[in-house]
Amino acid sequence: MRILVTGGAGFIGGHIVEAAMARGWEVRILDSLDPAVHPDPPPGIPGVSVLVGDAGDPDAVAQALAGVDVVVHQSAKVGLGVDFFDAPDYIRNNDLATAVLLAGMAAAGVDKLVLASSMVVYGEGAYTDSAGRPVHPAPRRVEDLEHGIFDPRDPATGELLLPALVTEDAAMDPRNVYAASKLAQEHLAAAWARSTGSTAIALRYHNVYGLGCPRTPRTRAWPACSALRWPVGRQCGYSRMAASAAASSMSGMLRRQICCPLTRWLAAGLPRAA
Ligand SMILES: NC(=O)c1ccc[n+]([C@@H]2O[C@H](COP(=O)([O-])OP(=O)(O)OC[C@H]3O[C@@H](n4cnc5c(N)ncnc54)[C@H](O)[C@@H]3O)[C@@H](O)[C@H]2O)c1
Repeated sequence: MRILVTGGAGFIGGHIVEAAMARGWEVRILDSLDPAVHPDPPPGIPGVSVLVGDAGDPDAVAQALAGVDVVVHQSAKVGLGVDFFDAPDYIRNNDLATAVLLAGMAAAGVDKLVLASSMVVYGEGAYTDSAGRPVHPAPRRVEDLEHGIFDPRDPATGELLLPALVTEDAAMDPRNVYAASKLAQEHLAAAWARSTGSTAIALRYHNVYGLGCPRTPRTRAWPACSALRWPVGRQCGYSRMAASAAASSMSGMLRRQICCPLTRWLAAGLPRAA
C-alpha cells in the first residue's frame, strides 16, 4: 500500500506515519511545515519521502499524489485561533486545501480517502437533565465560568445538565470557525466520494493526547486523567483520545472498509454509512 499523509509532520500525522511504516506500507508526507506548528524544522524520517508544500497548491498535490493508493488527510489549521480575523486562514488551509486535494485525487484516479475530522462538529455534544431526558444545552454563562461551573444549563429551567454519550445521530452543531471548517471538509469529502464513486471515511477525533502532543495547559492535564484510569481512546462521553488510538482507527479503517465504495463517518464506535 502506498499512502500519502498530508500533515504527516504534525502530531497525529506523525503517529499515523509510524503506524503505516510498521505495517510495511510505503509512506509519503505532504506538509507545509507551518511555522506556527513547527518553529524549528522537524527531523526527517528514514524511509519516508517528505514533500514540503501546501495541500492547497495544485502542483504540490499532483506531485504528492503520483503513484499513491490512498490519502490520509490530516493537514489543517487546528485550534480556535485568536479572533475572527483568522477565519480566512481556517477556510484556506482546511476547506480550500481539501477541495484542491480532492480535485487532484479525482484527476490522478486516487479513490480512497481517510479524513481527520473532529468531535467539534457536534458542538456541545449530548446532555440530559437529572431525569435522563435529552436536552440541547444553552451557551455557558460567563458568571458560571467565573465560579468554576463548566457544565451547561437547561435553557428552559436553568438546571445544570449532565453529559451523555454522543451518538452519530447527534445533530451537527459547529459553533466556531474551526468547527465549521471541519464539517465543511466532511461535506466536501462526501461530495467527492459521490461524484467520483470513491471511498471517504471521516474519523471524528476527540481531543487527542500522546507523544509529540503540543504542550499546552490543557494537554498537561491529560496524564492526570490517565492516572485516574479513565478509558483512554473511548470516543464518546470523554473529551480525549490517545494518539495511538487515532492512528489505529485509521489503519483499521483502511484494512476493513476502504475497499467498499461507501462513505462512512465514525464517532461513537458504531460506523454508519452516510
Ligand atoms: N489534536 C487533536 O486533539 C485533534 C482533535 C480533533 C481533530 N483533529 C484533526 O486532526 C488533524 C491533525 O491534527 P494535529 O493535532 O496533528 O495538528 P498539527 O498542527 O500537529 O498538525 C497539522 C500539520 O498540518 C500541516 N499543515 C497545516 N496546514 C497545511 C496545509 N495547508 N498544507 C500542508 N500542510 C499543512 C502543519 O504544518 C502540521 O504539520 C487535523 O485535521 C485536526 O483538525 C485534531
